[in-house]
Amino acid sequence: MAAGVIVTLLVTVTLLSTTAVAFDSCGSDKGDSGDLSVIHIYGKCSPFNPPSPSSSWANTVINMAAKDPERLSYLSSLVAQRPTSAPIASGQNVLNIGNYVVRAKIGTPGQLMFMVLDTSNDNAWVPCSGCYGCSSAVFAPNASATYASMDCTLPECTQVRGLACPSTGSGACLFNQSYGGDSSFSATLSHDSLRLGTDIIPNYAFGCINTVSGNNIPPQGLLGLGRGSMSLLSQSGPLYPGVFSYCLPSFKSYYFSGSLKLGPLGQPKIIRTTPLLKSPHRPSLYYVNLTSVSVGRVTVPIAPELLAFDPVSGSGTIIDSGTVITRFAKPAYEAIRDEFRSRVSGPFSTIGAFDTCFAVTHESVAPAITFHFQGLDLVLPMENTLIHTSVGNLACLAMAAAPSYGNSVLNVIANLQQQNLRILFDTANSRLGIARELCN
Ligand SMILES: *[C@@H]1O[C@H](CO)[C@@H](O)[C@H](O)[C@H]1NC(C)=O
Ligand SMILES: *[C@@H]1O[C@H](CO)[C@@H](O)[C@H](O)[C@H]1NC(C)=O
Ligand SMILES: *[C@@H]1O[C@H](CO)[C@@H](O)[C@H](O)[C@H]1NC(C)=O
Repeated sequence: MAAGVIVTLLVTVTLLSTTAVAFDSCGSDKGDSGDLSVIHIYGKCSPFNPPSPSSSWANTVINMAAKDPERLSYLSSLVAQRPTSAPIASGQNVLNIGNYVVRAKIGTPGQLMFMVLDTSNDNAWVPCSGCYGCSSAVFAPNASATYASMDCTLPECTQVRGLACPSTGSGACLFNQSYGGDSSFSATLSHDSLRLGTDIIPNYAFGCINTVSGNNIPPQGLLGLGRGSMSLLSQSGPLYPGVFSYCLPSFKSYYFSGSLKLGPLGQPKIIRTTPLLKSPHRPSLYYVNLTSVSVGRVTVPIAPELLAFDPVSGSGTIIDSGTVITRFAKPAYEAIRDEFRSRVSGPFSTIGAFDTCFAVTHESVAPAITFHFQGLDLVLPMENTLIHTSVGNLACLAMAAAPSYGNSVLNVIANLQQQNLRILFDTANSRLGIARELCN
């Protein structure tokens, strides 16, 4: 059962403040090699029907956060041995549409696609010509001089299919994947040139989508930045040797884009880091060692097993680009929330996933929340702690309880808590860096 009851908002929600400055960054990427714009999926530069800028942005965030439990179920399902490939429309692997997109060009000449950035996924896939059920722009393989489908006898095929070739032997590598609650797709494993900014990765393996069912498939595809062997880091070899970073723009900054820097060039030289951990049980995910959480100066009492990393079961805390608000195992969240509430005057109300909304006039006494990672304390800026709505002029604690999965725990450090921070994923040195950066 998903955590929390989803409340339908019948009221208009507005931002307390929006800083809109005339600076159009939609046209291109930043120019440097491996430095790409990261665009919020509903931001001005996104092609995906952005809602109007000022009237419903917080509402959009609240609605997006309502899909987090599906995302968490999906993340917890990302185990190493996939039983079989999922049949179309089985709804097994559940994921909502991603929150941030980057521009990529596929093929020769390059065809522009706005692909969802997903640090917890290994594969890439795009909708292709003739796709049944795809919603918008598609990649046309027949217009690319460098496109080829891949044969099912290749080891990559076994990896994405989760199955060996049919006994009939060779043929195109077809695979199915479930996605986004009621959605799924079937695709042909293919390869072609992938262009990111000025970098070109030849023979990039991705799924060319033939059939989509449901409404939750990212309309122009997905770029997997996970740790597995089919992900961008693995396939780009020496170009981006295990290193990338991003800075996600503020949820409020409709007009701005953040940045994705691929490879070691241009990364911050001085940055505080914490070890990056790896679970063979969920090999795609980026685990960190969260040792405690404090609210103001109080260390919240949280049972150690709710935070402890266990490589065998995959329990622990991950950092993810596709979950909207940070989720903790229920008792951990409740302890953090109760300490937070004890410092702010109520009454407290619930809006969507947020169960601690209070009069904005009490915001000045809201305590800072600190995530203590091994060797690194992250004091969350208020912008990364509260979300504002005009429903009675409220501020809400922008975190929630994770759905529970038996004895396994998966805490997720999510987008809203990562705004305006440079997050460095350095798999080469097994560390994650965090630095303040105003990227909007
Ligand atoms: C590619 O195929 C599509 C239909 O699948 C067709 O409409 C288009 O004209 C073809 N383009 C080229 C360059 O052959
Ligand atoms: C994909 O799903 C379709 C429809 O359920 C099924 O006919 C097909 O055999 C599946 N393909 C693979 C490779 O699992
Ligand atoms: C996490 O950090 C704590 C404190 O530094 C340390 O005692 C513990 O061994 C670390 N856990 C892992 C899995 O590295």
